Amino acid sequence: QVSQALKSIARNQHIKSYIQQSNELYPLLLKAAKRFVTGENKQDGIEIAKELISKGYFISLEYIGENTAELEDCIKVKEEFLNLIEKMGSMSMKQTVSLDLSHIGLSLNPDIAYKHLLEIAEKANQYGITLMISMEESSKTDDILDIYKKATKQYPNVGITLQAHLYRSSDDIKELIYYPGRIRVVKGAYEESAEISIARSEELTERYLSLVDTLVAANHPVSIATHDEVIIQELLHRKHAQQPNVEFEMLYGIRSDLIWDLKEKGYQTKVYLTYGKEWYLYLCHRLAEYPPNIYTAISDIVQP
Ligand code: FDA
Repeated sequence: QVSQALKSIARNQHIKSYIQQSNELYPLLLKAAKRFVTGENKQDGIEIAKELISKGYFISLEYIGENTAELEDCIKVKEEFLNLIEKMGSMSMKQTVSLDLSHIGLSLNPDIAYKHLLEIAEKANQYGITLMISMEESSKTDDILDIYKKATKQYPNVGITLQAHLYRSSDDIKELIYYPGRIRVVKGAYEESAEISIARSEELTERYLSLVDTLVAANHPVSIATHDEVIIQELLHRKHAQQPNVEFEMLYGIRSDLIWDLKEKGYQTKVYLTYGKEWYLYLCHRLAEYPPNIYTAISDIVQP
């Protein structure tokens, strides 16, 4: 219930604009968000990326945002991604950029998102950068997969995220395996109905493991994107993480002890970093998926 409330708060435009205009609340919440978000500008993301790369991690960088409603804004977002990639390229940062297709036009029209994606993928390709498409609510899954399939045929540096909590993913993977892009397996962050999705449970753990089994057996590039120790231990036991195409990926600010440990043991590890002014939505997601974070956020806020 707490999670559901937080997810509705995140998308409530009145609350959002109230916070954005409040001189008191905005800096306080930004302080709490800084645990999970590198900052509001790309330079913040780049700085932390450099630091993590120097410690031996790979990184994935996202300019946060979704559901852009105006074409003009979608174009600005696309430009921001192109600038980010140029900046990374100029520093020979051959890493990963992540994006939501609804940030670059999917909410207006799939063709706009596809056109923008191709421009971004072309630029990423020039610099040896991987582009990962995030997965959004189930109402968008078909469009996102269609766009991914078309794009990755042309640009194999484009990868996709698959949500283990959706029943359909077990079927989708059978086809996705024939496309070249990296597949990032996540449990799923969105609230979905019980008819189409599985809640956090042993059944979900089994589904997650089985998706990774399928990808590893096919020697397909895979990112194991979870902080769940049970899953990670089981995959280590199955020796999947020893494959060269397999990496662990975790969100910045979450279980940094665990990813450090995996890196020290010699596994390939990637940290998912975000930046941007839409940090509020991202913060709400992180609090919703793990409500004890609410206490951490409060203590971050009250600390001088
Ligand atoms: P689970 O939620 O069961 O948590 C397992 C344990 O991890 C918890 O007990 C806790 O210890 C720790 N933990 C998890 N979340 C935490 C948090 N917020 N704060 C502190 N500890 C936490 N989802 C989606 O729908 N579309 C997408 O495109 C992506 N992309 C993505 C990329 C990457 C790199 C990651 C790691 C995750 C995503 N996600 C996502 C989010 C994903 O679906 C999921 O909501 C989170 O990873 C949390 O789920 P876990 O697998 O960690 O398991």
